[in-house]
Amino acid sequence: MPIIKVENLSRRFGDLTAVNNISFEVAEGTIFGFLGPNGAGKTTTINILCTLLQPTSGKASIAGYDCLREPSEVRKAIGIVFQDTTLDKDLTAYENLMFHAYLYDVKKSEMKGRIDDALHFVGLHERKDDLVRKFSGGMKRRLEVARGMIHRPRVLFLDEPTLGLDPQSRAKLWEFIVELPRKHNVTIFMTTHYMEEAEVCNKIAIIDNGVIIADGTPEELKKTVGGDVIYIRTTDNQKAKLEIEALFNVEVSEKSGELFLTTLKGDACIPEIIKALGEKVLSVRLQRPTLNDVFLKMTGRQIREQEASSEDTVKEAVRAYRRKHDRS
Ligand SMILES: Nc1ncnc2c1ncn2[C@@H]1O[C@H](COP(=O)(O)OP(=O)(O)OP(=O)(O)O)[C@@H](O)[C@H]1O
Ligand SMILES: [Mg+2]
Repeated sequence: MPIIKVENLSRRFGDLTAVNNISFEVAEGTIFGFLGPNGAGKTTTINILCTLLQPTSGKASIAGYDCLREPSEVRKAIGIVFQDTTLDKDLTAYENLMFHAYLYDVKKSEMKGRIDDALHFVGLHERKDDLVRKFSGGMKRRLEVARGMIHRPRVLFLDEPTLGLDPQSRAKLWEFIVELPRKHNVTIFMTTHYMEEAEVCNKIAIIDNGVIIADGTPEELKKTVGGDVIYIRTTDNQKAKLEIEALFNVEVSEKSGELFLTTLKGDACIPEIIKALGEKVLSVRLQRPTLNDVFLKMTGRQIREQEASSEDTVKEAVRAYRRKHDRS
């Protein structure tokens, strides 16, 4: 039985259909990635699953409990790290977790052990008595993951857990997240803008304008883009092109002095190419499709195009300000 089951779920806000008839299932003990650009409907879906928002139509269940009819059972089964941080900055790390443990009726005799375990798990035990306002963004996120685990949920929702973190903090947080299913038997439901993070997911669904436009394993999705590209530099491109075409019965093209061909099994082809061309080969490189390519193919846009353009807008505003300032 899937631990999360969503059937024909929709949510409207006035005229806007934020979530439009989506269906999917998540298997227990896996990491499920929900990908999509700004405003795609990710947080709205999470809010419905977490019983914070009612759907307009359709249904959803977690651990066999219906999100609409059995909200308190669902709440016991889930933990959540919200998109915006919700820690109390004027409490210490330890106090934040203790507050959460009280809210969830964790037995007093178990409380200290669980909090200590959680703090060790995310590498914050040494900082347990520091006020959260002294924490970096990455430390706050790790503390929120620890907090989400205190009541031993079966499903942990992570809404953009790494948004705004520097690459090092992102990597550190990921070390903990990927361990969760194995070490704590938790199913992870996460959203992210970072396609390379989505690579660790067992399954992915891509949502755009409230509609799921693709789903599958990262490998399955990448195969839909059309395979690996092999680039080859040789001492005699004309001759090499004919030889490779005869070898694999594919079309080989040339760009900037480099031959290239598309194939589904790039790594297996490379030794054959080198064997066939012998000393003519100068270099060979393999480019695998990324989830970014998948998103681009499905939607015609980059997942972060909007962010990039808003960044450009800011830069443009700064330039305009400077121009005006310089003139005066
Ligand atoms: N309470 C609300 N009232 C009206 N519109 C809403 C409300 N909540 C969300 N929306 C709209 O629904 C759409 C989906 O929003 P949602 O927050 O689910 O997107 P998201 O995929 O989480 O985006 P992001 O990546 O920016 O977090 C957006 O157009 C948003 O403006
Ligand atoms: Mg969101």
